[in-house]
Amino acid sequence: MEVYLNGKFVPYEQAVVSVEDRGFVFADGIYEVVRIYHGKPFLWQEHMDRLRRSAQAIRLKLPAMEELTQAGFETMRRSQLDDATLYIQITRGAAPRLHSFPVGVEPTVFMIARPYHRPAATMVQKGIACITVPDLRWHKCSIKTVGLLLNVIAKQEAEDAGADDAVFVRDDVITEGTSSNFFMVKDGTLITHPADDFILRGITRDFVIELAEEMGIPVREEYITRDALSQSDEAFLTSTGVEVLPVTVIDGQKVGSGRPGPVTMRLWERFDQVVAESVE
Ligand code: PDD
Repeated sequence: MEVYLNGKFVPYEQAVVSVEDRGFVFADGIYEVVRIYHGKPFLWQEHMDRLRRSAQAIRLKLPAMEELTQAGFETMRRSQLDDATLYIQITRGAAPRLHSFPVGVEPTVFMIARPYHRPAATMVQKGIACITVPDLRWHKCSIKTVGLLLNVIAKQEAEDAGADDAVFVRDDVITEGTSSNFFMVKDGTLITHPADDFILRGITRDFVIELAEEMGIPVREEYITRDALSQSDEAFLTSTGVEVLPVTVIDGQKVGSGRPGPVTMRLWERFDQVVAESVE
């Protein structure tokens, strides 16, 4: 397998970065995960726009977009994978450890395509169980940075508790999942956290909102308190990895009927349909 590293395609085993890479030392970097359906990237431009926003937010100068796009497409092509995710990571480069930005240092650019594993059909049919965990992350969750320590710990806590995933709660408000956005459904209306600095504005989130609006399903972007959640009819997560995934249990309590709800499943089906159409 070949990966892209700093302008070259190199065998996976030979792709190495400096021990003083700022991504390694400071988590001083950003990333994207793009879904590839039948060899074609899905919502590429949206992912590149977010990458640009993340770079601006951490004051990182990106290589030209054409260069990144070419590298991304070539990484996919060389992988020969039909169904894959493309991981893109860009850090502030390698330099002796000083907190201030290094001068004259090129960013490290890494891309790798991996086979995609869809959540098991049984997971979608049954829905998943989540726990809630306090959202102790910083105030810039809107930046897609590689600093994911609390996300990693929350996911592990969920698995240790026998659940599938965790959702973060900040000041009694459900923000998002460990690597996904959170939606609830109440009386046929979708409700999800506003796209402010306390969540990552998911590309899938925005896409699902668009689909819902086209389907005549009302959407409200507003805070979901624990109390509101306990009254919800349905809940689901969205991300590049899970697409639309029903959540049927939260902290051991059933969400609605405890089965994936009709609105969630309509969105799941429509998502599938649109993706199939986009690769025809
Ligand atoms: N995670 N919120 C967080 C904290 C995330 O890490 C992600 C994605 C999302 C959903 O974003 P999108 O719909 O653009 O994938 C929301 C990626 C997939 C990951 O870290 O693997």
